[in-house]
Amino acid sequence: MATIETLEISGPWLKLFWSDGGQQRFFATWLRDNAQTPEARNPTNGQRLMDVSDVPADTAFEAAALSGGGALEVTFAPDGYKSVYAPDWLRDFLQKDSNGPERHLWDAAHTILHRTFEDVTAQPDALADWLRAVARDGIALLRGVPTESEAVFRVADLFGYVRETNYGKLFDVRSVADPTNLAFTSQGLMVHTDNPYRNPVPGLQLLHCLQSDAEGGTSVFVDGFSTAEKLRRQHPKAFETLSTVWVPFRFRDGEADLQSRTPIICVDDNGAPTAVRYNNRSVAPVDPETDVETFYDAYRTFSALLQDPAGEATIQLEPGDCIVFDNERVLHGRKAFKQASRWLQGCYADKDSLLSKLRILSAQNTP
Ligand code: OGA
Ligand code: ZN
Repeated sequence: MATIETLEISGPWLKLFWSDGGQQRFFATWLRDNAQTPEARNPTNGQRLMDVSDVPADTAFEAAALSGGGALEVTFAPDGYKSVYAPDWLRDFLQKDSNGPERHLWDAAHTILHRTFEDVTAQPDALADWLRAVARDGIALLRGVPTESEAVFRVADLFGYVRETNYGKLFDVRSVADPTNLAFTSQGLMVHTDNPYRNPVPGLQLLHCLQSDAEGGTSVFVDGFSTAEKLRRQHPKAFETLSTVWVPFRFRDGEADLQSRTPIICVDDNGAPTAVRYNNRSVAPVDPETDVETFYDAYRTFSALLQDPAGEATIQLEPGDCIVFDNERVLHGRKAFKQASRWLQGCYADKDSLLSKLRILSAQNTP
């Protein structure tokens, strides 16, 4: 582990020189706002006790030195406030990559990671492995989930909480007469993300197969982030259009009228995709006054990439299989099937609980 060798103050900036050559620069107001003292943070729960308005606007360095143990000790002007900063805490800001989750983008060659329900229930390591795959690949499969109605809740219980919607806690996907949703027919479904008409959009989807006697009905999954990156490489202008034009989505039945607007590709401050929303069944008319010529060109190009077999990971779900995927990243669809018994039960859950569970399991494994 690297240590802080020297430091240098220049006006409101403090520079740290690490033993492995790493360098960091901190602003006085930033350090004061992030003071590690009992008045600034509750020592038990680590929560902040101050607001930025408690930090003097003219905060500067009065003195800074390294303690015997290698920690950074700072005295601030104008009020002589003191705080000590642990090297590990400071160092974490240098390794920015460790803040974001590891992510693998994939195409048709991807093998969906699978574990058994028995293993993830009995072994925390197997559960951590499986949750890591959901976080990293956006998708993972559990086999051997009991083929009983509502068993999908037992999968959600492994990492979080069911997100209830107007469809209920659980939805059944099987063929019915007079369907309110095309999902309840035997038609194929183009790859899509569910419920882009909600805000927030459900972060995770679980689909548990209870019966699959039907011929066909193969499930198709496409990595929306990988496809968005392909779009950016091959058609940068189309990527720009789909990440800036806001598109309305809507679902309406007797009891609900759900509406939301969002870009099809959402990006973060570095331009990296954070969400893909795509659903040809619930997309509503875009504002006819927008640059629809450019929009349709981009939309059509993205649609073609999403339907390119080069990006499709297919799997025939068998009874007892439960597939879990990131509904803001991985698009799902199915091939048509012959009318026969095919029954899936699904539910939604949030990603924050899954990531939290994964962090807790990983911390227990780190000595
Ligand atoms: C859906 C859906 C998948 C399937 O209901 O939105 O995607 O395999 N169903 O039937
Ligand atoms: Zn769906």
